[in-house]
Order: sequence, then structure tokens, then C-alpha cells
Amino acid sequence: SECVSLSPMMEAVPAPPESERVCVFGTGDMGRSLGLRLLQAGYGVVFGSRRPHSSSSLIPHGAQVLGHAAASQSAHLIFIAVQREHYDFLVPLANQLKGKVLVDLSNNLRKNQYPEANAEYLQSLVPGAEVVKGFNTLSAWSLQNGPSDANRQVYICGESVEAKQAVIAVAIKLGFSALDQGFLSVARELEDFPLQLFPQWRLPLRIAIGLSAAFFFYLLIRDIIYAYVTQSKDISFRIMVSLANKVCPIVSLIMLSLCYLPGVLASFLQLYRGTKYRRFPDWLDRWMLCRKQLGLLALGFAFLHVLYTLIIPIRYYVRFKATERTVSVIRENRTTQFDTTTAWRGDSYLSLGILGFGLYVLLGITSLPSVINTLSWREFSFIQSKLGHLTLLLCTAHTYLYGWNRFLSSSTYKWYTPPGYMLCLVLPSVVLLLKLLLITPCVDRTITRIRQGWERGADQ
Ligand code: HEM
Repeated sequence: SECVSLSPMMEAVPAPPESERVCVFGTGDMGRSLGLRLLQAGYGVVFGSRRPHSSSSLIPHGAQVLGHAAASQSAHLIFIAVQREHYDFLVPLANQLKGKVLVDLSNNLRKNQYPEANAEYLQSLVPGAEVVKGFNTLSAWSLQNGPSDANRQVYICGESVEAKQAVIAVAIKLGFSALDQGFLSVARELEDFPLQLFPQWRLPLRIAIGLSAAFFFYLLIRDIIYAYVTQSKDISFRIMVSLANKVCPIVSLIMLSLCYLPGVLASFLQLYRGTKYRRFPDWLDRWMLCRKQLGLLALGFAFLHVLYTLIIPIRYYVRFKATERTVSVIRENRTTQFDTTTAWRGDSYLSLGILGFGLYVLLGITSLPSVINTLSWREFSFIQSKLGHLTLLLCTAHTYLYGWNRFLSSSTYKWYTPPGYMLCLVLPSVVLLLKLLLITPCVDRTITRIRQGWERGADQ
């Protein structure tokens, strides 16, 4: 016989029936990890290999290795863990594979690498078999680590319902949850899936980088180049902390308002249209779908702002300035007055910042999937909407109080430009004003009716 690797223990146990046996073509990383997982789940595993004798040492204990033809005879379900370039070897096996379920696990290196999906190509090579695309979003690593430590979701598609059901049954027994995505024509999408790198993060990341760069250069000119040109003072060291501690909170506040702007716009659109039964424009849909990522990035920037603020007292520059002031007060024998207004102002803006940051963190935590799962829809929307707008309000108030009455003095507008904190107040102020309009009783009543299905003009 071609059989080479039956472990002594397995020899004593009768071979499992065909329904409990699965075949894996390919003894690479993916094939071996899958085989191991199948064995652990209680399946009998038969590997199909070009050179059964030389690959036997690599395969998991308890599995059998046979030549492709013999292996395919022993099971109804065959996982094809082979790269697409090597699919040719299946052509001479077409007869043996008739009626079998072939699971195509393959992935490509880039999009549009081949004219048709790998699974469709496989189906064309072996027309008599039932090809199911699936499991390709898993890595060998996640197969080995077990379902507790990796993504549990697998996607499958294929023409035959029975074939898909057989594959789903195996997936469930391995501890995965399987999602049937439809016919084999979806295979291409499933094959592109692992090639995407954090697709929902792309736009928010671009916004964050764009805003950071724009404000960095704006503040560089206003703070550092201005001092150099007008007073010949080199204060470029401020780039490291002072400038960073402006760019971070500014970007954070703008991105936080970008989280809440689309919801407000959507409400106004519904008000204007007088119905909820029309689709939002695509750009608004896409924008709403990346709110979580926008918010989490904004939280990251707020966190940096807090860290930068915490180190202010230990900065050499700050300590030097403070000592210098004290020394000059003593030298000149002056007395200084404690100003209660300044104390109130300072404490108030810091306290609002802290409260805002506290709620910000709560928003971040409640956007994690494991936490969302413990919340009802009402609880989730309460936190994300009501507390979200409150967070925006607190952070905006923090910034207004920080600015205080500086907008009155002309020295604030270096080269006739407004400081960064003023610019970054525009968007949150607009969002908060629009939100305020939306929660006035008469507007709120109309919005609620529209959300309950009422349509303007429909009842006439
Ligand atoms: C400015 C403290 C949270 C937004 C400042 C400043 C301090 C401060 C000391 C003045 C910095 C300077 O003199 O250069 C804090 C503390 C916070 C906190 C202690 C919480 C623990 C937040 C949060 C936001 C925020 C959550 C919202 C995004 C801002 C903005 C400025 C600012 C926009 C003006 C930056 C500029 O100078 O242009 N904050 N903050 N802060 N903070 Fe906060």
C-alpha cells in the first residue's frame, strides 16, 4: 500500500467512516496546520502528496499520507491547500474527483493577479467536482492557535448548497463560525479580502496625517519662524513639545467633531427630505461607516496631548522660566498679587479637559467589539450619541476657556493669522450648534416622527 505514516496508536483504532474523514491536498504550512486542527477535532485526516514518502516526516501525528489519487478515494471532502500555479496536477485526477467537494483555500499576492478567481479556475479544471471557496481568510497561525486566540469568522461561497453545508459543518466542528456569502462568483471578493490592509482605517488615517501636517506647518510658521524673522530669536526647540502639544489636541478636537458631523448632517437631510426611506448619498454613508476609526484615532491624539501636558512641569525651559521670574521678583523686591480670576480660569479649563478626556476614554472603550456585545442597542446609542456630544462639548469648552480673552488682543494674530486653537474651534462649534438646533423640542419631535416611519406629505 502507499500508506506510510500511521502512528502506532492510530493503528489500534478503527479508521473513521468516510463522512468523518477529510482529505488535505498539500503539505505546506497551511495544509499541515489545517490537518492538525482537523485531527484535534476528531476527524480522520488523509494528506494527498506528490511524494508521500518524503513528506511523511512533516505531517502531524496521526494523519495518513497517500498519493493524490489514493487520498482522494478516501474522503468526500478535499481541502486544496496548494498554490494556484500548481493546480494542473488535478487535471489527470478529474475522474476520481467527480462529485467530491473541493475546498479552495488559496490566496493571491495582489489584486487582479489572474483573470478569474482561483476557485473559478479550479472549477474549470475539475468540472465534475463541487468547488467551495473558503477558509482563505485564516492564516496557518490562527489555525494552530485555536479559536480562542484568533479571528473565528470564516467566509465561504460556492454553487452547491449541499457542498457548502458539508464545509460549514466542518468549520463549526473546528470552532469557527461560517458565513455563506453566496455563489462561486463571490470567490474573487473573498480572495481579495486578505489583501486589504485595515480598509476602514484608510480614510481616517489620511485625515489624521493631512490635518497633522497642515497644522504642523501652520504653527511652525506662526510660532517659530515668526519669532525668528521678527525678533531674530531661535526657539526651534519648541517644535518637540510645545508644537506637538498643539498639533495633537487640535487634530483630536477636529477629528472628534468629524465623528459627529455626519450624524448631524444625516438628521438634517432627513428633515429636509421629510422621510427616512431614501438612501443617504454614498459619501455620507462611507463617512458614517468610518466614525469609529475616526473616534479611536482622535482618542489617540487626545492621549498624546494629555501625556505632553503631564511633562510640562519637568521641562528645562519651563523650570528655567519659573526660576528666572522668582529671582527677578526677589531682586527687584517686588511683591506679586494672587489673581483669583486667573486661578479660576486655569482650573476650569484643566478640569473640563480632564472630564472631556474621561468621557473620551469611555467612548473608546465602548467601541470595542467585546464591550459592544454586552450592551443593548439603546445603551450603545446612549453612550455613543448623548455622551459623545457631551464629550465634544466639554473638549470644546476646554479650548474656549483656554483661549479666554486672548482673541481681544492684536498680538494674538501674528502676521494677521489666527492661532491654531481658534481655527480648530470652528468645526466643533458648528457641530454643537447644529446639534443644539436638532434637540430643540419642535425639531426633535419631527425627527422622531420621521425615524418612526412618518413621511411628510404622505398623510394628505
Ligand atoms: C490646550 C490640558 C484634555 C484640547 C491645553 C493646554 C493644557 C491642556 C495645559 C495648554 C497647552 C499649552 O499651554 O500649550 C489638558 C488636560 C487634559 C486635556 C490636563 C485632560 C487630562 C484635552 C482634550 C482635548 C483637548 C480631551 C480635546 C481634543 C485642547 C486644545 C488645546 C488644549 C484644542 C489648545 C491647543 C493650542 O494651544 O493650540 N490642554 N487638556 N484637551 N487642549 Fe487640552
